Amino acid sequence: MTRAATAGLADFPFPLVKDAYRYTANLQPGGQRQETEAGAWGGAITRAGPDYADLIAERARILRADPGRVITDPALRAAEWDTLRYLMRRLAAEYPAGFRYSETGERARWENRLLGSTADFTPGDPATLPCGPLEFIGRQVVEDLVLLDEREGHLWAEAGLVTFASGWSFPFVIGSSFQEIHGPVPRANADGVFTRAEAFLMALPPGQAYRRVNWAFQPFRVLDHSMDAAAAWMPEAARFLATATEEDIAQHVYLRVELQHLIRLETSGAVLFLIDTRFASLADLATVPAWAARVLAVLTDLPDDIADYKGLRVLRPRVIDCLRRLTE
Ligand code: HEM
Repeated sequence: MTRAATAGLADFPFPLVKDAYRYTANLQPGGQRQETEAGAWGGAITRAGPDYADLIAERARILRADPGRVITDPALRAAEWDTLRYLMRRLAAEYPAGFRYSETGERARWENRLLGSTADFTPGDPATLPCGPLEFIGRQVVEDLVLLDEREGHLWAEAGLVTFASGWSFPFVIGSSFQEIHGPVPRANADGVFTRAEAFLMALPPGQAYRRVNWAFQPFRVLDHSMDAAAAWMPEAARFLATATEEDIAQHVYLRVELQHLIRLETSGAVLFLIDTRFASLADLATVPAWAARVLAVLTDLPDDIADYKGLRVLRPRVIDCLRRLTE
């Protein structure tokens, strides 16, 4: 086994494709296998890896503490059922040993062997599930889910289940348009990135999936890095940065990658936004010299406004120093 494989990076969606980074829509068809220096990723749209049960348990813990991370809207009930069926079929097709989904007449059966649970229900009838369809499927997948509805020529975030947001608040975003959500992103609005991306999404034919990757750095492997949970992670991150040694930075600072899928649902026509969150520590990244070199080049070149928006003002020089030392 290579060192990258031992570090769990064999299927890591390394996001940086050039030595410089600027905002673009960077969309490509979903489900395409992408080779990397450490292995390959992207052959599947959903993910059920060795950490599946841990991620499901972490999501359940966050939902117990803050049930407001699930938001539904009666107007999107059809889209919720669409989401449930799409994801159950996907999981069953992509991980046949772990999941099975079947429909007989009006009834459906979902078997989740990874969690050891089965559900018999009638699609379209919420009384046959223990909770709403979006929450039900959200508790079976590791991805965050947002549903966007198209009206008045724009996309609006109207429902979802988000427990692993990176630096934003799902309850705050709900009800906003695609353009409003991206209002704070520097440069990209002026460059027309979001106008083009929204037009692309609205033209997406039913059933089609596209994907993109996004990235950030953060201290500690904290999945719920949302603004809603800032009181829990922000003071600890600040304390860490004030006292961390170079070894601490190598072990406890992570590249956080979001593999995002955008899917136009077949029946309702809503757009489903899926976010799968992955982490690699700097020490792990350094096991793949091409990745460490790429991160160094990107961070060195990154304009200050993008670095500031990504919360890298204090971290950037520390990450650069640490990766230089690790790859010397
Ligand atoms: C083609 C589709 C999309 C593109 C090109 C896109 C692009 C981007 C980019 C470039 C950023 C800045 C990220 C960073 O520097 O770390 C961003 C942030 C963000 N995106 Fe998207 N995105 C897309 C879809 C979506 C969708 C469907 C949602 C639905 C909720 C969404 C929600 C967000 C949020 C909440 C942020 C953080 C904004 C903030 O700082 O408050 N994005 N997006």
